[in-house]
Amino acid sequence: MTDLHVRKMRFAFADYDVPFTWNEENPAFSSMANAVSFLAIGFEKMIVNMIREAMPRITEPAVAEEADAFVRQEGQHSTAHRQHVAGLIRAYPRLRETLDKVIGEFDLLTSEKSLEYRLAYTADLEATFTPVFKLMLDHDATLFAPGDDRVASLFIWHFVEEVEHRSSALIIFDSIVGSDLYRMRMAPSIFRHVLRIIRIACADFNEFVPLEERKVDALAMFATYRRRRRLGEWLRPLRLPDHGPMPRAFDDLPLREQLVALSGIVRSQLPGHNPTHETLPALADLWFRRYDDGYDVTQWYTADLADSK
Ligand SMILES: [Fe+2]
Ligand SMILES: [Fe+2]
Repeated sequence: MTDLHVRKMRFAFADYDVPFTWNEENPAFSSMANAVSFLAIGFEKMIVNMIREAMPRITEPAVAEEADAFVRQEGQHSTAHRQHVAGLIRAYPRLRETLDKVIGEFDLLTSEKSLEYRLAYTADLEATFTPVFKLMLDHDATLFAPGDDRVASLFIWHFVEEVEHRSSALIIFDSIVGSDLYRMRMAPSIFRHVLRIIRIACADFNEFVPLEERKVDALAMFATYRRRRRLGEWLRPLRLPDHGPMPRAFDDLPLREQLVALSGIVRSQLPGHNPTHETLPALADLWFRRYDDGYDVTQWYTADLADSK
């Protein structure tokens, strides 16, 4: 029996404006998280179609049950991210084009790539989430707490459920494809695709969201882009348009912990990786306890703890 719980969340994104820079203390992280919201919608749509296609090929009832709970969690994430992005589109209407582009890229993946490839895509990408989200959740005090509580609570919920279903995509991949070698061979093209989508979103942020509200060059999270911009400062013919300052989302996090996350990403792609044994963020445990206690997790930092008991 699967341990996954499907939780329906509604955040108050329609009630008042959704700021692009939702954490004023870290505009680079705000922009990165916004890009993740766009990516999540396209990726999770692909997952829903993929599981529908995969179900008839899953023979073990326990795996079928895992796949069903997994896809229903992803469906809930997607719905919530759509509401977040709808709020951004209300403020910056051309971001509708960005959403269409990102979804279009994943629809293309669905129509052009084999089921095996999409299962590997999901397993590979989801395997990186636990180490990456641990880094973020361990530093929620600076990354999330100072921000708009709707956006912060959306990401915290999504990330802890990604930790909760960290083994699902791999279990499903193993039951249908079951080849670590295939998963490893596909990894470079999979991560190129992920980064390309994030880049599409960030390039559009630079175009469609005024610098006064964006506060940073959204593309600055890419090392190649940073190098090109720096080079252009020296060599006039190579100069790129100035889209603003280039701080990075994790500049203030301890380097040691960033390296731990990085090694976790590498480890997650190796043969025999079992996410069950990952070190988990303490916040995930607290979140599940508070959820079970009836705490309003849609307002993680502003709900009154005492009221919810
Ligand atoms: Fe998700
Ligand atoms: Fe997921």
